[in-house]
Amino acid sequence: MSLYPARAVVDLAAIRGNVRALAAHAPTAQVMAVVKADAYGHGLVPSARAAVEGGATWLGAAQVAEAVELRHAGVVGPRVLTWLYAPGAPLRDAVEADVDLSVAAAWALDEVVAAARAAGRTARVHLKVDTGLGRNGLTPADLHALLPAALRAQAEGAVELVGVWSHLAFADEPAHPTVRAQAVVFADAVRAVEAAGAHLEVRHLANSAATLTDPAVHHDLVRPGLAVYGLSPVPQLGSPADFGLVPAMTFEAELANVKAVPAGHGISYAHQYVTPHDTVVGVVPVGYADGVPRHASGTQDRPGGPLRVGGRTLGVAGRVCMDQVVVDLGPGAAEVAGDRVELFGSGLDGGPTAQDWADAAGTISYEIVTRVGARVPRVHVDTAAGDVPALTATEVAR
Ligand SMILES: Cc1ncc(COP(=O)(O)O)c(C=O)c1O
Repeated sequence: MSLYPARAVVDLAAIRGNVRALAAHAPTAQVMAVVKADAYGHGLVPSARAAVEGGATWLGAAQVAEAVELRHAGVVGPRVLTWLYAPGAPLRDAVEADVDLSVAAAWALDEVVAAARAAGRTARVHLKVDTGLGRNGLTPADLHALLPAALRAQAEGAVELVGVWSHLAFADEPAHPTVRAQAVVFADAVRAVEAAGAHLEVRHLANSAATLTDPAVHHDLVRPGLAVYGLSPVPQLGSPADFGLVPAMTFEAELANVKAVPAGHGISYAHQYVTPHDTVVGVVPVGYADGVPRHASGTQDRPGGPLRVGGRTLGVAGRVCMDQVVVDLGPGAAEVAGDRVELFGSGLDGGPTAQDWADAAGTISYEIVTRVGARVPRVHVDTAAGDVPALTATEVAR
């Protein structure tokens, strides 16, 4: 067991099953499992391997370092795409590691070409088009200006234009008019690149929300991230179960102290919570440094983020601190130090979920799982292989 009094247990069987479910939602497309940000906090390499076992033929990582790390870890089967870098990035390492590169600006094409020449091999390039998100990517005008140089680099053998791709601004509102507008700009961009002579392998636009709700934008490849980890990108439209997904991460800790306190006892910094009667409180040894959002603190009138203790779901009492939170276990509580507390998990047993924490903190579940602190051990289990998480978990060194 870990020496740390908390852990994020990640069920690789859930990740495999989620990818299978996503593939079923997009039967005409390949699946790129997005594993950026340490696989949304779930652990890069084990999660990537599970996604591939579930049928992902592509992996996506925002940062070059994560994409190269996958290859160095021996993840060689799927294609890997990386897309967010600044001038001077180690693109030669990426080309040598057989990582596909996104090009979103003229300087990026120049650097990819230089990296390919230095590596002595062709760089596989996906042209990123800003179809309306207003973030990274070539505007349609930039794309037209860049195409001649891209085709010259292709003729020279420095690059191969294998993809055109973009990202939606309102994928979580499938009926939003910008979705159709972006799809039109995307189709124009694809046509322009193909008319210029590129033989594209893949056109891709859909994140999790679009994969689950909008077949019209699936194209050749869908790019889900959040849903790979079993969370719903559109909680207003459906729960994970509604989409055939199972949350993969369980965040749990052991009670570090349990004690009786009298009525009127202030709890945690600034005494935002005062015990309404004689009671028993427990100290849970995770705080905002572990990713517990401070915005999910509890007050006298509003319980904070949910904690499952002994089959009951209670709320954080008082302020979330850096390393700990307090829970009011109630008068006569039977819990003792060492008892398990679940902050969130699959929700299949009615326990709290990352979405519940997102609601309590006024944020999205993406932020809850990606922010689980670096000091919290990730413990990878495979329930399909019969692992009992707390007993046979293999802790993956981070
Ligand atoms: C370019 C790109 N594609 C795909 C994804 C996956 O998005 P989601 O986690 O909503 O599926 C992201 C994540 O934000 C992204 O930045």
